[in-house]
Amino acid sequence: MKTYKATAISPANIAFIKYWGWKNENDKALILPANDSISMNLSNCLTTTTVEFSPHFTSDSVKIAFFGQEKREATEKQREKVLHHVNRLKKTGDITLPVKIVSHNSFPSDAGIASSASAFSALTAATAHALGFAWDTKKLSIETRLSGSGSACRSIVDGFAYWQKDTNSENCYAYQLKDETWWDLADIVVVLDSHSKKISSLDGHQLATTSPYYQVRLQELPARIKKIKQAVEGKDFTRFGTLIEQEAISMHAICMTSQPPLFYWNHGTLEVILALQQWRKTGLMGYFTIDAGPNLHIICQKKDANILNQRLQALNNVSFTIVNTPCKGTRIIDNHLF
Ligand code: PMV
Repeated sequence: MKTYKATAISPANIAFIKYWGWKNENDKALILPANDSISMNLSNCLTTTTVEFSPHFTSDSVKIAFFGQEKREATEKQREKVLHHVNRLKKTGDITLPVKIVSHNSFPSDAGIASSASAFSALTAATAHALGFAWDTKKLSIETRLSGSGSACRSIVDGFAYWQKDTNSENCYAYQLKDETWWDLADIVVVLDSHSKKISSLDGHQLATTSPYYQVRLQELPARIKKIKQAVEGKDFTRFGTLIEQEAISMHAICMTSQPPLFYWNHGTLEVILALQQWRKTGLMGYFTIDAGPNLHIICQKKDANILNQRLQALNNVSFTIVNTPCKGTRIIDNHLF
């Protein structure tokens, strides 16, 4: 009997302009962001996912493996989110068979990297392919966004992505700003020795509008987006670095002034920021950005990645680092995980 199987590989991405918050409940339901965002794919933070629909399966199953760890059943929460998305996609086709999903991440589970971006872009592409949908990158980006992990829609395209906001779901997707060969940048993910309680980005999106500064942020963003776009297009690294730090601080200022306040940083976060400021005075140029957690992404020019990586690893609170360069987006591959 015929089976339906496909495998996709997809990178996580780091946002230079952050997706943070929705304007209202309807936007929340459809993951329509309050602002545009810009990101770069990360070459060493990859998820590979195989999806198969088959009459041989008696029930749905979801298994995940992180680098260096055994494959295990997804947690109840992960399973629910994954199957909700797959079932929604399944409803748009003719196949009603049970599904088996196996996913492997190239990075450790405690890296604090938004693995949901690589996971949900890979899942969407593999599911669509297994179901026989011939979708272009725009459609794939829209459907990935609807998984609930909005930022995942930026991982679909190669290199540097621009996710445009829109009040209409069909116009809200990511497109390519520049491909992965455009700029010799590196992103050093700095994983801190942190046992702090994790606060999800969902909590942050939900609370964003409670900050008295949220409207100010939204007013500032068009000008900052324009400048960052120009800095990427003109490969103006110092300008770019200064702007991405402003942006990360702006997002975290919203978090810290939300009701209740959210503190994603810890003392290790500040140790790295202060060290970077010192190194820049000596001509070693690296700039930080931070997502919804204490860990940092240090963006530098590729030529400085080794020395910066060594210095970062020597800091007290740094547990380990992962060095990335810009890379291709989501792809279908032939090597299935089962
Ligand atoms: O896609 P989500 O819901 O995990 O939100 C992503 C939030 C940030 O990582 C902080 C910013 C971004 O644009 O990636």
